[in-house]
Amino acid sequence: MNPVVNLDDYIKALPKTELHVHIEGTLEPELIFELAQRNNVSLPYASVQALREAYAFTNLQSFLDLYYAGASVLITEQDFYDMTMAYLQRAHADGVCHAEIMFDPQTHTERGIAIETVFSGIARAVRDMQARTGLTSYLLMSFLRHLSEEAAFETLNAALPLREAYGDIWVGIGLDSSELGNPPEKFARVFERCRELGFRLVAHAGEEGPAHYVRDALDVLHAERIDHGVRSADDPALVQRLIEEQIPLTVCPLSNLKLCVVDDLAKHNLADFLRQGVLVTINADDPAYFGGYVADNYLAVAKALKLSRNELAQLADNSIIASFLPIGRKAALRARVRAIAQ
Ligand code: ADE
Ligand code: ZN
Repeated sequence: MNPVVNLDDYIKALPKTELHVHIEGTLEPELIFELAQRNNVSLPYASVQALREAYAFTNLQSFLDLYYAGASVLITEQDFYDMTMAYLQRAHADGVCHAEIMFDPQTHTERGIAIETVFSGIARAVRDMQARTGLTSYLLMSFLRHLSEEAAFETLNAALPLREAYGDIWVGIGLDSSELGNPPEKFARVFERCRELGFRLVAHAGEEGPAHYVRDALDVLHAERIDHGVRSADDPALVQRLIEEQIPLTVCPLSNLKLCVVDDLAKHNLADFLRQGVLVTINADDPAYFGGYVADNYLAVAKALKLSRNELAQLADNSIIASFLPIGRKAALRARVRAIAQ
């Protein structure tokens, strides 16, 4: 590609996957207001602007409180469709070729929404988008770790009958929500069951929690990919293991900044990880809340950490390697990255 092309265009031209995005975290304030009106849900904010202004977080929990409140406007299958389609259109514009999307059924079933409604709306948008543009998506059904393991089992059992209808895109299981005080071991049995059932496994670890949560996510949960994992840096032997075993980290720079995991993007350890050989990837996490979608995250770290264009291409390549795509599709996408990077 012509080297004079601007950085933003270069980033968008790189074929990428997005591996760490919570669909409920893509609900923009405008859509929250629209759905609230459509569903007669009253919001404690006078305007879109007032809601946006409330997005000043001090830690993960301060964000999660608003995130769960925002999701309360999702009632019908069409609501889940509209949210997912809006995200997929943004991702497509950013050059995302494949997304692995987390969703939290418990956020909705606890409010009396049927789990079928959640799966159906999300999956219909995924299929429509694939038919229209070729952008593929997989779904990672995630358990809320502030709830009990028993509740996770109930969710799994409620979802399993849907596997026949959605098994082509519902490929994996995740673990998210409040990390501190909710260690991986709490979900050892349900993850074991999911492994027996043949699901791919990911887990949030080492976002706010200590490095040993990352070890436990690997050894106790058998997670194949770690969501965030930035606190692994506190344990050099663990970093060595991540490099040797090429365990992917799905890092979310703007999320880390907004949730005060780092106080300055220029101090983010993503570039160190990349240069040491850790299989790091860049993702948006909850883009509607953290001020940017995936290309914004690439651009922000490119500037703050002075990443070269080759390093940006390496990050796009890592995102393909770390995905759950079949090897043939990975090879085709990686060839496109190489063609752009030279
Ligand atoms: N759920 C949505 N975003 C999350 C994050 N960054 N960490 C943990 N759980 C989440
Ligand atoms: Zn996350």
